[in-house]
Amino acid sequence: RSLLNLVRSLPKAELHLHIEGTLEPELMIEIAKRNGLLDSLSFHDANAARQAYLFKNLQGFLNIYYQGCNVLQHEQDFFDLTSAYLERAAVEGVIWAEIMFDPQAHTQRGVAFEAVVKGISRALTAASNSLGIHGCLIMNFMRDLGADAAQKMLDEALPFKHLITAVGLDSAEIGWPPSQFKAVYARAAHEGFKLVAHAGEEGPPDNIWAAVKDLRVSRIDHGIRCLEDEKLIHHLRDTQIPLTVCPISNEKLKVYEGQLSQKLRQLLTCNLVITLNADDPAYFGGYENVMAHPLQQSYC
Ligand code: HPA
Ligand code: ZN
Repeated sequence: RSLLNLVRSLPKAELHLHIEGTLEPELMIEIAKRNGLLDSLSFHDANAARQAYLFKNLQGFLNIYYQGCNVLQHEQDFFDLTSAYLERAAVEGVIWAEIMFDPQAHTQRGVAFEAVVKGISRALTAASNSLGIHGCLIMNFMRDLGADAAQKMLDEALPFKHLITAVGLDSAEIGWPPSQFKAVYARAAHEGFKLVAHAGEEGPPDNIWAAVKDLRVSRIDHGIRCLEDEKLIHHLRDTQIPLTVCPISNEKLKVYEGQLSQKLRQLLTCNLVITLNADDPAYFGGYENVMAHPLQQSYC
């Protein structure tokens, strides 16, 4: 218990967190009500929602996650979502949060890119002033919408470049190898964005190689399946490319067989740079347990 208290009191950095994945059922219902969308939800109270959060795999989770996104329509909704997360994170000792968001999950429903990015970044600025929690934004391309859609989103993002630090790649992994996004990553780098990508979560170690070699990322999100490729482990160790590992997410999405603690020990004994992160805590639980790790060197 005293160890837990000590860890809780340490300052922490959150480097892998989807802001849409922090939408707690209570806030989802509140926002759905004010936007007249309550009937669109497949549940009508928070307990029923939590009971529906049992996932077989990544796709099963994504289906529910994108459904939750649908209630977010206005800049104020994104502001409220982000403010709620930052308040919770500040209480748990997070002093630096790199916040991912999925613009395409919103723009494809007709929400303006500007409403999304301004709502999130306004909340981050407010929290920097009032709560002492700082951070930056990472804009993710959704892999399963393809490379052309990613290029279009990058165009839409350019007027807001000053608000966004990095680009990333998320959503379904199987069948969507990173190499397809080589051109859009090269352009993002040219525009001054830092580069990260989800790889090796459900997909094979080759996806991690491609993220490193083709996309030229400086950090891998998840990356847990590197353990299946010894050459890759050596490469990640030698280059010290960090992996933002999300153990509770991996467990809830059943991305691998076997024991979680064993996987983490393996990563550490290989001398890889790993950080522990929450991913989508409203869906997987584990805000404070997962974020209970020492401050890592900040990425941004
Ligand atoms: N993997 C891929 N896409 C995601 C995730 C994830 O864990 N969470 C939200 N989008
Ligand atoms: Zn993620």
